[in-house]
Amino acid sequence: MTEHDIEQLISRMTLAEKLGQMTQVQPQGRDQEERVRNGGAGSLINVVGDDAYHYQWLAVEHSRLGIPLLLGRDVIHGFQTVFPIPLGQAAAFDPERVRLAAAHSAREAGAAGVNWTFSPMLDVARDPRWGRIAESFGEDPLLISRLGVAMVQGYQQEGVAACAKHFVGYGAAEGGRDYSATDLAPRALLDTYLPPFRAAQQAGVMTVMSAFNDLDGVPATGHEDLIRGTLKEQWGFDGLVVSDWCSVTEMIAHGFCEDAAAAARAAVNAGVDMEMASTSYQDHLASLIEHGLLDKALVDDAVRRILRIKARLGLFQHPYGAPERAQPQRPAAAQLARSLARDSCVLLKNEQGLPLGEHARRVAVIGPLADAPGEQLGCWVFDGERQHSQTVFAALRERLGAQRVVHARGLEHCRSHDLDGLDAAVALARSSEVVVLCLGEDAGLSGEAHCRAHLDLPGAQQTLLEAVAATGVPVVLVIMAGRPLVLGTVLPHAQAVLYAWHPGSLGGPAIVDLLCGESPSGRLPVSFPRSVGQIPIFYNHKNTGRPPQADAPSIPSGTPLDPSGFFAAYLDEDHRPQFPFGFGLSYTRFEYRDLQLSSKQLAPGGTLCASVLLSNVGHRSATEVVQLYVRDLVGSVTRPVRELKDFQRISLQPGESRRVSFELHTDALRFHDRHLRQVCESGQFDLWIGPDSATGPSAVFELMA
Ligand code: BGC
Repeated sequence: MTEHDIEQLISRMTLAEKLGQMTQVQPQGRDQEERVRNGGAGSLINVVGDDAYHYQWLAVEHSRLGIPLLLGRDVIHGFQTVFPIPLGQAAAFDPERVRLAAAHSAREAGAAGVNWTFSPMLDVARDPRWGRIAESFGEDPLLISRLGVAMVQGYQQEGVAACAKHFVGYGAAEGGRDYSATDLAPRALLDTYLPPFRAAQQAGVMTVMSAFNDLDGVPATGHEDLIRGTLKEQWGFDGLVVSDWCSVTEMIAHGFCEDAAAAARAAVNAGVDMEMASTSYQDHLASLIEHGLLDKALVDDAVRRILRIKARLGLFQHPYGAPERAQPQRPAAAQLARSLARDSCVLLKNEQGLPLGEHARRVAVIGPLADAPGEQLGCWVFDGERQHSQTVFAALRERLGAQRVVHARGLEHCRSHDLDGLDAAVALARSSEVVVLCLGEDAGLSGEAHCRAHLDLPGAQQTLLEAVAATGVPVVLVIMAGRPLVLGTVLPHAQAVLYAWHPGSLGGPAIVDLLCGESPSGRLPVSFPRSVGQIPIFYNHKNTGRPPQADAPSIPSGTPLDPSGFFAAYLDEDHRPQFPFGFGLSYTRFEYRDLQLSSKQLAPGGTLCASVLLSNVGHRSATEVVQLYVRDLVGSVTRPVRELKDFQRISLQPGESRRVSFELHTDALRFHDRHLRQVCESGQFDLWIGPDSATGPSAVFELMA
């Protein structure tokens, strides 16, 4: 179907059919048959399996023009096979496996009739109180961009349209409260929040979703400058923009539109092509056009984009999926889910205890998440199969033999304060040589509208931890959670801490692989705060005029007139995070030496080669995530203290060394100046290649004018 064919089709459509294309509804069973027959829906959400095929058949065979439906579903981190939550996938720092996971998800979803997923979420998430941080790739624009592109490619290569969401700024909700207003300066938008969307658009993402949030006074769904201006006109995005769930009519509650007609008009003017869930387009656009309040060319433009995506997906030829479409490969998907879950786990502490080793003749697996197949899947798993979810307890029994592995829940679920199971758990711990304690957050504690003001272990889990630790039996703590938790009171009670996020269907075997000897290689995609009072805390912040000093007194001795000790810090808390972005231990020790630059000077448009000698100086083979950061020391506007520019996963045997090289092009040094022009400014830069955002050897280079 060519662009010309699309124009022909549009010329044959009635206004009602056009507005139908611009409408997405959620059927309850088969209650939308009439609407689909009449051409009153361009898309349905949340129909799968037989219902999906049935509705598609109605649209294609029984509507006047036979236009196929977009059948949308939130396939966020897997379909039947559930991969780690996106925040966990991000910790693997491995775009290729993220792409493959998306491809498997698309095959499984595609076989159930789905041709559109509302993923990836590209929101920059710097606030762990926000429940949707679980769905994000964390705090760093470069990591989000790389993984977002990989996910888009994975879905779309299998014939499922991806959706970059939520455009834009949604992750910056005030106080980490979902749906709250955001107040982002233009440069923050341009340098931090928009780049992942730009990367997805350049990678050919077919659809974009407008966000719920109020952005500096304008709801994102009515933001003409950003949707029609930046996304469509400036970047040249030619796909379709869908609203979020009722985000068109929510502009009334925002106080931006007085009624549904005004909301529909604002959204169409802004460039939102399809309305999700609410029906203000269908109800009001015709009369707005009739009264000269809306340009009907905007409706045609929206319909053109919707039809274009249907054509791009091949739905006009193959509405039920292309015959050559790859079928789901469940064993391969499960294998990938295991490897991705394994490499998403971040080892935060290991004084002793890991790997478990052969001496552990009796292991107690304790805690509300030790054997909770549904909870370990995390948020957004409509189609995830609990019955195929394998837990830590089950996997460890299988690995070590049932007689060596015993289990007690301790608490019924993570939020429970009922201590009835405590004594049995403590007794079990006492009779074992090591405890694997699985604590954290139930799946329902993160995700949309699931924000938290406290980031400690919920319920009585701290009590359980302390009671088990008091037995003196070594504790290996496995934390499953949808966000970073505040771990200050937790860390002292465990000999080892493995952060597993919500690891998905194969979480159990993946964690057991690590407990039994494979080295963890996950790295934090987000900074871990020491306390809620530090939030927002992220590594790529500005230096300020009074950066904190390592030797600063805890109580400043000066006065505003003599400001000794007056720094950007807290009286009652360290200014540094508990664990920095990029951090993660392994079972070996890596050494970084001999940082070399191909030149100390870099010409505009040129490429610098930076390399470091990485050695595995420990006793086990392991994978390191080598990270390249820069700092632009002086700019026409102030620049962050560090910015991630590249990373590589490198596996080394004990005693092995390898020179790890990166190519840094000057394009990677661009930012928006005072006039919001994208520039690359001459001057000095610091460059680090290291294991995280806080350490590593550094060098200096100069970008020439
Ligand atoms: C969420 C979107 C999601 C949509 C459809 C909304 O509430 O914000 O991310 O894709 O629902 O389920």
